[in-house]
Amino acid sequence: MANFPVSENVAAMQGSSTMIAAQMASEMRARGIDVIDLSVGEPDFDTPEFIKEFAYDGLRSGLTKYTPASGSAKFRESIVNFYREEFRAELAPNEIAASCGGKQALFNAACTLLDPGDEVLIPKPYWVTFPEIARFCRATPKFIETEANDLVLTAEMVEAAITDKTRLIIINSPNNPTGRVIPQDELIRIIELCASRKVYVLTDECYLFFAYPPARPFSSAALPAEIREYVCVAGSFSKTFAMTGWRIGYTIADPEWTKAMVKLQSHSATHPTSFVQYACAEALDNIDRTREAVSSMTAEYERRRNWLIPELNKVNGFKCGMPEGAFYAFVDVRGLIGGRWASSAAIAEAMLKEATSS
Ligand SMILES: Cc1ncc(COP(=O)(O)O)c(C=O)c1O
Repeated sequence: MANFPVSENVAAMQGSSTMIAAQMASEMRARGIDVIDLSVGEPDFDTPEFIKEFAYDGLRSGLTKYTPASGSAKFRESIVNFYREEFRAELAPNEIAASCGGKQALFNAACTLLDPGDEVLIPKPYWVTFPEIARFCRATPKFIETEANDLVLTAEMVEAAITDKTRLIIINSPNNPTGRVIPQDELIRIIELCASRKVYVLTDECYLFFAYPPARPFSSAALPAEIREYVCVAGSFSKTFAMTGWRIGYTIADPEWTKAMVKLQSHSATHPTSFVQYACAEALDNIDRTREAVSSMTAEYERRRNWLIPELNKVNGFKCGMPEGAFYAFVDVRGLIGGRWASSAAIAEAMLKEATSS
């Protein structure tokens, strides 16, 4: 239909620029051109074999029916136990809800908290989905500049940005797209400050385990209960376990916030796939195999980072700091903009076209 009357909520959202680049690469590939597509944040590893085996086991044993909207009891227990083992976090199953990936976890958290007119703090640079979630809820994204501290958020920056209307801040550390990690002490200061000002914190921990030494994985789920009242952790199996297509994640939040998220989800996706929940629970229960699989993948990402960043810095006009985490390289190309190229997107397009036409 040419004139489909898209709702105001969805019309206010912008399309994903990452997806535009990925689409361009996939069209070129369909034309037989050899393109390496680094636009979408997707591990090139296959899901570890033992996790696939658990999924087959789940299917064979008949786990093909609905689970509770919050996820199976086994899934939630396994998350509780895993966070206790890894981070000494003391959680209860009613603080956990399974979701279809980290993205749905973020949506559930934002949609159950935000009202029209609320302000949502988003540190720059940010993952493209964050402001769109806020806009979908008719809240107003307010961006925080972090360049003064090398793209790492500080409590002072948050303090200066809070107003009477601030309801939520969305934090992502290790960060997409910068790979920067907020030091643990600073992150705690930020969350304590927010809790003292009754500002909720949605912390996207999908790259939790991608922190390279000396940085170490730290989850806000391990904070004391009185602070966690204001915190929702959005977790995901996508990147950690190379499971992007399985669509499974979870939230860790106050029981009342969790209840609201489960209510919302019970009217949309209901829950992530039952035998996928089982496979993930088994993977977390088999903590030694999980640790081994994750550390062999993160060691490879670290090796690639150590090669890539110095190579990028050899390109005329490129500047790239060393990321402490995630698997992104955020290259500063501002020195090249203004002459031949009008934007970073134009530079990316020129590189794609010139390399492929030579
Ligand atoms: C910062 C960030 N959060 C969340 C997601 C979504 O992950 P999931 O596949 O778990 O929905 C991504 C995916 O690229 C991401 O980069």
